Amino acid sequence: MEKELLALYAAERARLHAMACGNGRSGEYEAPVFGEGPMGPRLMLIGEAPGAEEAQFGHPFVGRAGKTLDALLDGAGIVRENIFVTNAVKFRPINIKARSISNRTPTPKELRESLPLLERELLLVRPQMIATLGNTPLRAMFLLAGADPVSIGDAHGHLWPLTIRSMPLAVFPLYHPASVLYRPSLLPVLEMDVKHLGSILNKTEEAGS
Ligand code: URA
Repeated sequence: MEKELLALYAAERARLHAMACGNGRSGEYEAPVFGEGPMGPRLMLIGEAPGAEEAQFGHPFVGRAGKTLDALLDGAGIVRENIFVTNAVKFRPINIKARSISNRTPTPKELRESLPLLERELLLVRPQMIATLGNTPLRAMFLLAGADPVSIGDAHGHLWPLTIRSMPLAVFPLYHPASVLYRPSLLPVLEMDVKHLGSILNKTEEAGS
């Protein structure tokens, strides 16, 4: 992985460590999960934030949502090793109760504070296309592009041309793979959208070869 990207991740690790030392108890700041994959890929996938398994093992999308994601990619002929996978927020946001710890959506402030890293990550990785998983990374991309936000319900399954720091980006919003775990009726929609994404990637590959 490129040195500059590793330096970026090291700086984020230090920022989160400082938050942990400040007794911030709303995230797993000591177990951040960073992006993985080749530089200059055809596709970059952006999720919301790591969950428990991701924080435990230090890799994005290795838990239950990751298994669903892998099956969706397989079904669309997209090889995970060829794409860059990351999250909008690099630490696991949590709710702490007396007897349990659970995942939660990152707050608007947490997302805002994560945007500079995501922007630099995009500029260094330079993907040809981006697929966002769920509302949080979709919002992140529109915020970075200075564009009015769109909801996942309206935006999914279509290409949205955005420009971030003069870099033109084709953004393809998808529902989050975890959403089908509690809303099974979304599964056929998500399957169709990922297949559509796979066919766009195939077409651009054929056109480029
Ligand atoms: N959900 C996400 O958004 N990202 C992960 O890495 C895992 C689950």
